[in-house]
Amino acid sequence: MTKIFIQEVATRDGFQMEERFIPTEEKIALMDRLSDSGVDKIEVTSFVSPKAIPNLRDAEEVMSEIRRNDGVTYTTLIPNVRGAERAAACQADEVNLVASVSETHNSKNVRRTVDESFASFKEIADYLSGTGININGTLATTFGCPFEGSIDENRVLELAESYLDLGARGITLADTTGMATPNQVYDLCKKVLDRWPGLPVTLHFHNTRGMGLANVVEGIRAGITRYDASLGGLGGCPFAPGATGNICTEDLVHMLAFMGYEMNADLDKLIALSSHLETLVGHEVPGQVIKAGKITDLHTSPAHPK
Ligand code: COA
Ligand code: ZN
Repeated sequence: MTKIFIQEVATRDGFQMEERFIPTEEKIALMDRLSDSGVDKIEVTSFVSPKAIPNLRDAEEVMSEIRRNDGVTYTTLIPNVRGAERAAACQADEVNLVASVSETHNSKNVRRTVDESFASFKEIADYLSGTGININGTLATTFGCPFEGSIDENRVLELAESYLDLGARGITLADTTGMATPNQVYDLCKKVLDRWPGLPVTLHFHNTRGMGLANVVEGIRAGITRYDASLGGLGGCPFAPGATGNICTEDLVHMLAFMGYEMNADLDKLIALSSHLETLVGHEVPGQVIKAGKITDLHTSPAHPK
């Protein structure tokens, strides 16, 4: 059966939403355990303005001090050349550029037009050429925008092409506030793969309306094998009203494992890691498998009432 690649984003998408500052050494300890959990990529942090995202103000320390596993790609989100310089100084394997398909969300998130974002991405690509650091291009609000509503698929394809023109190795289609429906996911992913067969495309879903795992099933049916997910289902964009967590890593791996998909990710290690998460963030997390157990965790039958 198809192999699926699991990309952990709790330490970026998750921690950027947390009110309480997560101490740097706790971030590093979590990441070191994640590096041993079989996930294929970790989005370690963001090199953004610390005023915009205070919880990730320790990005340099975190990126430099984590223990790296050769089998894992360590990526980081960056918004501008300053972010690229910071990521390069800490030897990130990859930088993840982010622009929204929706103009309104792009201006709220990064305070510029989409064209201005891509002009600065060209500068980033020039700066990074020859460093060996790969570029991934994320398109936020691909499946719907909380301000503008539906998104034109042609605009998604056009912006994906702009990323590829500047040298991006992979593209992420992100559903920032959980507006994607499964049939929409299938149709758009088919179009993307028909146009660029073999392109490493990641799907990044938020479970805001409970459609996250259904969207994964349809993404796989369309041929996409890379999925972002967040331990415990943490996550969300601070610049999108009503944003909530990503699809939950251990719930995703649980579903795919019992469907028979091959993955490097180790379900038991991820469940063990997630069980400490509520103490780390200081609140309940949305993940369901840590509450219910795996489908193979059976209960002893209660005695019949007399
Ligand atoms: N790293 C650290 N600091 C940065 C930075 C970077 N990559 N880019 C800008 N800054 C600092 C500037 O030095 C400046 O600091 P100052 O106020 O102390 O002088 C401040 O941020 C504003 O810089 P400016 O260039 O005027 O940018 P801006 O105010 O238009 O903000 C962004 C633009 C993109 C830097 C900012 O909106 C941002 O970082 N957004 C984060 C978006 C995000 O992560 N969203 C969630 C994930 S999708
Ligand atoms: Zn996200």
